[in-house]
Amino acid sequence: MLGTDLVNLLKSRKDSLDPNPEVIEAPHEALDVTLEDNVTAFIATHTPNIIVNCAAFTNVDKCETEREAAFNVNALGPKYIAAAAKECGARLIQISTDFVFNGNSDRPYAEEDQTNPLSEYGRTKLEGERNIQNHCNSYLIVRTSWLFGHNGINFAAKMLELAEHNKELSIVTDEIGSPTYTPDLARALWTLIKQECEGVINVSNNGSCSRYEWAEYIFKTMGINIKINPIKSSEYKRPAKVPLNSTLNCQKFATITGMQMRPWEEAVESYLKKQK
Ligand SMILES: NC(=O)c1ccc[n+]([C@@H]2O[C@H](COP(=O)([O-])OP(=O)(O)OC[C@H]3O[C@@H](n4cnc5c(N)ncnc54)[C@H](OP(=O)(O)O)[C@@H]3O)[C@@H](O)[C@H]2O)c1
Repeated sequence: MLGTDLVNLLKSRKDSLDPNPEVIEAPHEALDVTLEDNVTAFIATHTPNIIVNCAAFTNVDKCETEREAAFNVNALGPKYIAAAAKECGARLIQISTDFVFNGNSDRPYAEEDQTNPLSEYGRTKLEGERNIQNHCNSYLIVRTSWLFGHNGINFAAKMLELAEHNKELSIVTDEIGSPTYTPDLARALWTLIKQECEGVINVSNNGSCSRYEWAEYIFKTMGINIKINPIKSSEYKRPAKVPLNSTLNCQKFATITGMQMRPWEEAVESYLKKQK
């Protein structure tokens, strides 16, 4: 989702990007980030100034059973990319996640808050962050949450699909987060890249909601008449344990860039308009 939107943004002259960067795409079939020699050779050949790593093993439940594969993509891949970035003097932008936190806080998570992932996905992503911090000189780690976009599996798309085949759904009310639209995140990344930001920074669309409220908003906006039963996350059995409070404090992003991410509701409306 994010990689496609970022490439589309960077290649689009309509967005009056200044400067227009030369973009080298590295889809999975062109580069497997778990193969160290391939990563080293690819980066040495292209000698980029900036590398954005959007690749990840993002199926949170599958990470619980396919632990080695998840570790290879989410932790080792970033290590190989970081070492190659250091070698050619590139700045590395790594995308990370709200799932590095345990979700017990009663306020949105700030960048420096204690990490304590509950799942294999969160643990491997956190290991990826540490590998980047330890293996390259110039990096930015962007933590984001609850991504949805037009080029991949996500909660919003799943809700629309489920609504086609069901008269009622049960959705959890006690999992809270900030839905984030990948085209909006791509713009934010470009701003951060231009400003040469470094370190760790949170970026999500503004505001927060429960999974239940997100689904309800989607159905209301689309005029879909479907019954939603509120349930607790403890009633929804799944392999991975996920944080209950997934919201990120994005004040640092606003201060550094002078930019406000738009509210998640507006982003959802844009998504739905384009999906129609
Ligand atoms: N989705 C979310 O809700 C969410 C929330 C917070 C943070 N994030 C983070 O945001 C970033 C972008 O997420 P997304 O949702 O846009 O991901 P996505 O749609 O699942 O895309 C992940 C991409 O990584 C590729 N990939 C997997 N294994 C690879 C490998 N070994 N080598 C190279 N590429 C590989 C996948 O290719 P295949 O399809 O061929 O496997 C896919 O193109 C990730 O770092 C993710 O951890 C996501």
